[in-house]
Amino acid sequence: MRRTLIAGNWKMNGSLSSIEELISGIKDGLAEVTNADMAVCPPAIYISKVNDLIGDSGIGLGSQNICDQESGAFTGELAPSMLKEFNCSYAIIGHSERRSLYGESDELVAKRFAMAVQSGVIPLFCIGETLEERESGIMEDVVSRQIDAVIDTQGIDAIGKCVIAYEPVWAIGTGVTASPEQAQAVHAFIRSKLAALSEDVAAKVQILYGGSMNAGNAKELLSQPDIDGGLIGGAALKPADFLAIGKSA
Ligand code: PGA
Repeated sequence: MRRTLIAGNWKMNGSLSSIEELISGIKDGLAEVTNADMAVCPPAIYISKVNDLIGDSGIGLGSQNICDQESGAFTGELAPSMLKEFNCSYAIIGHSERRSLYGESDELVAKRFAMAVQSGVIPLFCIGETLEERESGIMEDVVSRQIDAVIDTQGIDAIGKCVIAYEPVWAIGTGVTASPEQAQAVHAFIRSKLAALSEDVAAKVQILYGGSMNAGNAKELLSQPDIDGGLIGGAALKPADFLAIGKSA
């Protein structure tokens, strides 16, 4: 049975005071979230602070990036060993904002993925099509290509060490959510694609949905058989909304 994971992607939001309020609000309601693991991915500069604030509450911690190299002359990057020093279990990799705004290719995403797995950090591996790609009927080709960049370099077993986040680009931050049927269809496609290579990996890998998931639509999305959680942007910035998503699992 796959456990539900609700992960908050804070993106470039927050301040020293707001993150304290956010974590303390999440901690206050955490006991009511019984069917999901909750995790937060703060901006890098706040990871140390959030690690302290989280303490032993059970909230998971992740970064929004991880370098494809161990250390050295890579200005602006985060070494896996640094993330591990601050208890980051997860690293978001391949988010569409990194792909589209900062030019990250499938190849670079796959290299970051490899370094994360090698270092014992779980990739929150983001994939998803743009509206144009969906409308021109190449949605499945796009998510296949994104996944194959990892499988072709690292094998199918590497996918078993990650959490996939299917995030249709047209739903991210737009308030337009994929319908539960639309999301389930892509999740089922991803799982069947993986099953063709390994039934075991397909059965165990968590596939999260991301894209305007909120307290109002989470229950229906999370009740789909192949949706194993959510990667939450906007709604992860308010403790009540984030907890409500966790509680609807
Ligand atoms: P959103 O962002 O929930 O604000 O749409 C999701 C994401 O980008 O991970």
